[in-house]
Amino acid sequence: MDVEERTRILREAMTQDEKLALVLGYFSSDAPWKNFKKPEGGLEQSAGYVAGTVRLGIPALTETDAGTGVASQPGDHPRMRTALPSNLATAATWDADLAYAGGRMIGNEARMSGFNVLLAGGINLTREPRNGRNFEYAGEDPWLAGTMVAAQIRGIQSNHIISTIKHYALNDQETNRTSLSVHIDDRSARMSDLLAFELAIEQSSPGAVMCAYNRINESYSCENAWLLNEVLKLDWGYKGFVMSDWGGTHSTIPAANAGLDQESGYPFDASPYFGDALKEAVESGHVPQSRLDDMVGRILWAMFSNGLFDGPVTAGDIDFQAHADVSRRDAEDSMVLLKNDRHVLPLAAGLRSVLIVGSHADVGVLSGGGSSQVYSVGGVMLLDSHADGGRVVYFRSSPMESLAARTHARLQYDEGADIKSAATLAGRSDAVVVFAHQWNAEGVDGTLRLSDNQDALIAAVAKANPRTIVVLETGGPVFMPWISRVAAVLEAWYPGSNGGEAIARVLAGEVNPSGRLPVTFPRSLEQLPRPRLDGFPEQPHARFSVDYTVEGAAVGYKWFDRTGATPLFPFGYGLSYSRFTLSGLDADVRGNQVSVRFSVRNTGDHQGSYVAQVYASPMRPEITAGWEAPRRLCGYKKVKLRPGESADVALSIDPRLLAQYDGTQKTWITAKGDYELALSSDARTPVAKTVVRLAPAAAGQVRSVRRPTTPSSLSAR
Ligand code: BGC
Repeated sequence: MDVEERTRILREAMTQDEKLALVLGYFSSDAPWKNFKKPEGGLEQSAGYVAGTVRLGIPALTETDAGTGVASQPGDHPRMRTALPSNLATAATWDADLAYAGGRMIGNEARMSGFNVLLAGGINLTREPRNGRNFEYAGEDPWLAGTMVAAQIRGIQSNHIISTIKHYALNDQETNRTSLSVHIDDRSARMSDLLAFELAIEQSSPGAVMCAYNRINESYSCENAWLLNEVLKLDWGYKGFVMSDWGGTHSTIPAANAGLDQESGYPFDASPYFGDALKEAVESGHVPQSRLDDMVGRILWAMFSNGLFDGPVTAGDIDFQAHADVSRRDAEDSMVLLKNDRHVLPLAAGLRSVLIVGSHADVGVLSGGGSSQVYSVGGVMLLDSHADGGRVVYFRSSPMESLAARTHARLQYDEGADIKSAATLAGRSDAVVVFAHQWNAEGVDGTLRLSDNQDALIAAVAKANPRTIVVLETGGPVFMPWISRVAAVLEAWYPGSNGGEAIARVLAGEVNPSGRLPVTFPRSLEQLPRPRLDGFPEQPHARFSVDYTVEGAAVGYKWFDRTGATPLFPFGYGLSYSRFTLSGLDADVRGNQVSVRFSVRNTGDHQGSYVAQVYASPMRPEITAGWEAPRRLCGYKKVKLRPGESADVALSIDPRLLAQYDGTQKTWITAKGDYELALSSDARTPVAKTVVRLAPAAAGQVRSVRRPTTPSSLSAR
């Protein structure tokens, strides 16, 4: 039988109490502050548990975080698992195949650990570069984020488990995340953050959508009828279920009727709103029975569609060796070479001495913190403390040891605490590699200035030795006041369980860096839509609004283009050890379907990959006025080439990326006219251009709307 039929029959066999059990999830760890004990059947130190129904063979939902691997909640026995590089790093690969491989790998580890739900798929756009969780997301552009996160979710769900996509929506800063209200209009939301969700959902069909902590236009995401019933379920035709973030449910009747299908992680919420209170609300008719049936149907639909009945999870052995390779390859392809004067990288064979400075590069690599924290199978270390008491976890994967195996130079390590002595040692070495870090974590926003005097350290070392290379381990963009004084900069992000080896292979030239920035690196806070981050860190429950109507849909490079500001490094930027040329740009229009062709050739002498990017700009000012910014990324392709080799590339452009959302008609509309397509090496560097004319036929409506499939969700509105 098909999934719909199985869902219907099973739901009909369920009692009311069995239905109610399926819509209330519990935290799956002890919560002593609430006198709460992990439910029986839930897996230790994990995020969530929803009881099944033994009588009917409905398996329990066993839920674990997150997007870089199987995380563990605090406790004495964390699971040791493979950690991918940060999700922002994976986005920096611009390689959907790698995102898929990573998703497939962590999904396998989730399954082998007994979990059938992986709370992955972070896709909040980088509207706020200081957001402490940007490392869990996929950057600032809807097409890049949408395609990369979709690939990861497909990889996860290929293990016959459910993946979430999260945090729906506009949860773009951590400060006061549970009380702030984002102000934004429907059109701007649908052309930015929601477009990323829309694209990823239609390309990967995640079983669940996790609604976010924040409020949107005054209404909590998890009881926001516009967000859940209208956009997600009606306009996009989403068939899976909406689960709340842990502590994100605030009511029974409003939440149920607005489209929340499952409360998660009780006791994070003040009350078990979807427990007895929901039972009573259904009995008294405040929540229609059809709405409860719809909730249950959606959960069962996601479980059937992802094989949770046909191939129930059973814990098993993990091939950690193979998984280490997946993580390392992802890290290698994610690293962005931002500067490389005089070809100081790769490190020359003739170097006699190299000084390694800072960030515990002698022993490990940094990871981001919070609920997504994976404890790496290679071992972890808590080497630094953080002001707010967060656990700063380093994975045992030493860049220095890995480099030692690849160079004849004598390596010396200095921890960088004493700037003077680091500079003295730097002056006596042939070259210096300074590791700088910025720890980011859930629950707190960061700053763009490197912490702990690292800027002064880098400046002093660079003054003492012109061959200074900076390796950054950061959650996102940082300022680089020393940029003109150093010879090279490599952005390595949080590089995962095998990050030390990946960094060493890039420095030594075994791997040619091919990452490109998935976010703009600003020069100053004044360049941002909100130079001062809104909020009251000392008052976590303060209620106030954050005005996203300032930039609307012009997130990241679009804002920079609109305001004419010059960033430190633009979106899409990255260097290579090789050189590439682009040629033969041509475009073809059929209806509203535009396709683009071109060739890429490696004209250098290193094997390497090039990320070809296509940006679209309307040529008539009246059309530009309806766009959020002068140009949009509308396609990209990463091509791997040996020296001298060339490849022909063909891309087709999603019609929405050449259109505007029209709220009155609820459709995307392509305006008739000429559009320039620029084949570019980053958002600011076009290499070749062509023009396409979208004829009246093509100017027709581009519907994002698939007809609703579950009328019962409508009747509940
Ligand atoms: C986070 C989610 C996470 C959940 C369960 C929340 O604090 O925002 O991303 O999945 O906890 O651990």
